[in-house]
This record gives sequence, structure tokens and C-alpha cells, in this order.
Amino acid sequence: MSFIENKIESYVEICEDPTPEPAGIIIFGASGDLTFRKLIPSIFNLFKKRKLKNFYLLGVGRSKLTDEEFRDKILKRLNNLKSDKNIIEKFILHTYFLSGNYSQDKMYKDLRSKLLELDRKHNTTGNHLFYFATPPNIYMPIINYLGENKLTVETQEKYSRIIIEKPFGHNLESSKKLDYQLHNYLNEKQIYRIDHYLGKETVQNIMMLRFANIIFEPLWNYKYIDNIQITVAEQIGVENRVGYFDQTGLLRDMFQNHILQLLTLITMEPPASLSADMVHDEKIKVLKSIRPFPKEKLNNFIIRGQYIEGKINNEMKKSYIEDIKKESKTETFIAAKLYIDNWRWSGVPFYLRTGKRLKKKITEVAIIFKDVPHSIFSDFYPIKIEPNALILRIQPDEGFSLVIQAKQPGSKICINTLNMEFKYKNFFEYEKQDAYERLIIDALLGDQTLYVRSDVMEESWKVVTPILDVWEKDNATLFYYPSGTWGPEEANYLIEKDGRKWRKL
Ligand code: BG6
Repeated sequence: MSFIENKIESYVEICEDPTPEPAGIIIFGASGDLTFRKLIPSIFNLFKKRKLKNFYLLGVGRSKLTDEEFRDKILKRLNNLKSDKNIIEKFILHTYFLSGNYSQDKMYKDLRSKLLELDRKHNTTGNHLFYFATPPNIYMPIINYLGENKLTVETQEKYSRIIIEKPFGHNLESSKKLDYQLHNYLNEKQIYRIDHYLGKETVQNIMMLRFANIIFEPLWNYKYIDNIQITVAEQIGVENRVGYFDQTGLLRDMFQNHILQLLTLITMEPPASLSADMVHDEKIKVLKSIRPFPKEKLNNFIIRGQYIEGKINNEMKKSYIEDIKKESKTETFIAAKLYIDNWRWSGVPFYLRTGKRLKKKITEVAIIFKDVPHSIFSDFYPIKIEPNALILRIQPDEGFSLVIQAKQPGSKICINTLNMEFKYKNFFEYEKQDAYERLIIDALLGDQTLYVRSDVMEESWKVVTPILDVWEKDNATLFYYPSGTWGPEEANYLIEKDGRKWRKL
């Protein structure tokens, strides 16, 4: 047995998640898309792994569902997962539904008595985790009514926590207002602002790769890195989220949260420990160091695009306008260049892009190193030596690779570029865990490391709100791109005018 295999086996126990305390999980917006697509399968998986013992799941929503009807819907969803029927049957016995109107006190009175009843029945000692999966315009009434009905009160014996879905506000002001409202009834330790990218295995691995290895850190700065590129590309369009998406746009939907979170993990200083506050403190420093986008020359730094019709995998896709069936200037693509003005990243450009209906679904971070200072091979090999690159593949095909130069076998001096690849699936035998599963168990365990702290949220809105303000005032330029491409041509100019190129994906 090799050293590595040995180590992995002996660490199994340390690597296991602890079992959370008993708790009731209450989902607001329980008849919605997110609940059935992500939350219920994730909670079920935790149950299957015996991480939820004394627990219940109470769905709350406007739909007039009985417990039986809700259970039928859950059954249908879980049967799709092809799991053991016995376990599904057992899980179902922990699920309930309460229907009501979010803006009426009566619902919260009903909720209070229902929780008392279920706490007793399932022996959950009064711990409650409330999940806000409703449209965001309902967050405020829910918070107020929960607060007024003392459902947010914690004691020595029981906790009350909330997980709140994005969008967390639609600009700096509204996000601060929402935060203020939350803090009327809850303290920061009770609030879990979710960004599901932080729950992805490979995103968590960014910290491991950087801080559990010594070989990268000396190179991780302006002296050795030429530029960093982050791409979050999707093939899907807006599907059944037209109303939400058209009001939101991609800058708010993907950039303010997922992209900026990836950026902070890549660029922050090593925290002294993995405690939530230490990690968030380092993220804040990065966000505060992002150079403000120059309002007068915004187009030189950020490009907005919208998809038109085009082919993806030989299938013709409609334009955004046809998809949503109305005129709209909402962006479905963003490419941006930014700088982080601190000692480590001085002068290093970060090129970031995200879009819908692009050529393929891929999320990757590419760290492109500088050229060698002088090529001793130039007499024999008068071709520019490719720079090294470290590619972190977030999804799909999770892993990372190192682009490196080596001699091509043969009598001549010929250099070839190699890709040293690590793929999770080739090395670890593991059942892929959905990001939501990771994040829900963390909230049950009271671990906020992978959630977004109030000031981190505020700083990320500070980065994007000035852009939104200019766009709103000036009727921002929108560039069109055919579905199935990598975005508008202007996104290429953005990087090519600096003498660089987007990495070929
Ligand atoms: C969500 C966005 O946060 O992330 C969606 O609201 C997007 O628009 C989704 O499709 C992408 O997530 P993933 O995990 O599929 O990359």
C-alpha cells in the first residue's frame, strides 16, 4: 500500500462530518423550484447518511397542500434519484406542510403551534433552521413576522438560524436595508447568507491547494503571475426563471456573488486559521482593494452581452428576446477586467467572464504565469515558450492541471507543452456531494465558514453598484452574441488589447 493510500485510510474518521444536534428544518417557498430541485434531495442525502436523526422538515408555502400531497411530491422527486425505497419511506415520515399567506400574522401563529407540536413529536429540543427559498420580495415580511412572533429568539438550550438565498438585495442600498432588518431580530451568528458556489467541492479545494501546499505560495503574486482568468460559462439560457432573471441580469445573478467569491478565494492572504471570521476577514481585505471601475471609461473594463439565436450541439436555440417574449436590454453575458491594488497583486489584471448560452458549461480559474525571463533555447527553437499555467477546473470534470514545458523526445531541441492533470474521479472514490448538502449540514452544525458574512456581502455590492448606477443612467451598451459562442467579439477585444487572449476552453 502506498504512503498516500495509507494516509487516506487512517484519516477517514477525522474527515467524517459530525452529526448535528436534533433540529427542525423549515423551508419557506416549499412548493417552489429550488426546494424540489436542490433542497429536498440534499436533506434526503443527509438523512441517508444518518446525519439527521431527530429531525423534521416542514415546508411552508402559499400552495394549498396537505401533508399527504406534499409527501407525494417529495416521493416523486426522490424516486427519480433511484434511492432505496425503504429509506425514502422513512424519510417521508419526517415531512410536513403548512400553507398560508406570508403577509398575514395568522400564518406565523399557525407556524408557532405547528413547530411546538413537531418539536415534541420528533424530540428536536426546539432548534430551528429556517430556509428562505421564496422570491426575495417576501424576505422582509417573513423576517418581521418571525421576529414579532419570537421565533428568532435563541436560548442556551435552542438555536434559531436562517439560511437566506440570493439575491441578497439588488444593490448596495437595498442589501444594507435587508441586513438592517435581519439584525433587528437576529445576530450575525444566526444569519447564513448562501452562495452555493462556496459549497462546491472544488471551490473548497482552492484553499486546500493554496494553503496545504508550500510550492505555490512563493509564486502566488505579481512577480510570477501575468494574469488570472475566471470563466463561469453555462449552456442553458434562462429556462423557467424569466421573471426573476430579466429584472436581475447577469451582473447581479453571477458576478456580484459567485465570481467575486471565487476571486477572493484565489487572491486572499492566508488566514491564520480556517475559522469563519478569519476567512471572512481576509476576503474583506481583497474586496476593499479592488480598484473601482472607472465610470467614464466603463466599456474599457466591462462588456455586457445578450444572446441571440445560434446553435448549441447542433440544436438551434432561440434568442433571449424570443425566450422571454418581450423586448429587453438585460445582460446575459459579462466580461470584465479588474485590478486588486495591494502589494501582492499590484498590476496583475484579472479577466472575468460569465454568460448564458455559451459554447459549453465550464467553470475554471486559470492562473497564467509570466514568460521565462530569457530563453536559452532560442538558437535551436525560435518559437515563444508557452507560459506555465495552473488551471483549477471547478466543474465539470473536477480537478486541476499544470501546464508545463518539457523536451520532446528526439535528437533535436524541441519543446512541447504538457498538461499534468489531476482529476478527482481518477483518484478519490467518492459520491459527489451537492453544494447544497454541504452548506445545509454546515448551517446545522453552526459553521459559517462557507457562508457570506454581512460585511463581505456589503463590500461585494460596493464593487458592482457603481457599475449598475452608470448602466441605469446611460442606457448601457449591449453587445449581442450568437448562442453557442464565447460571447460578443468585444469580450475578446477587452483582453486582446492588452496583448493577451482568453484561454481556449
Ligand atoms: C445560480 C444562478 O446562482 O447559479 C443561475 O442564479 C445559474 O442563473 C446557477 O444558472 C449556476 O449554478 P451551477 O451550480 O449550475 O454552476
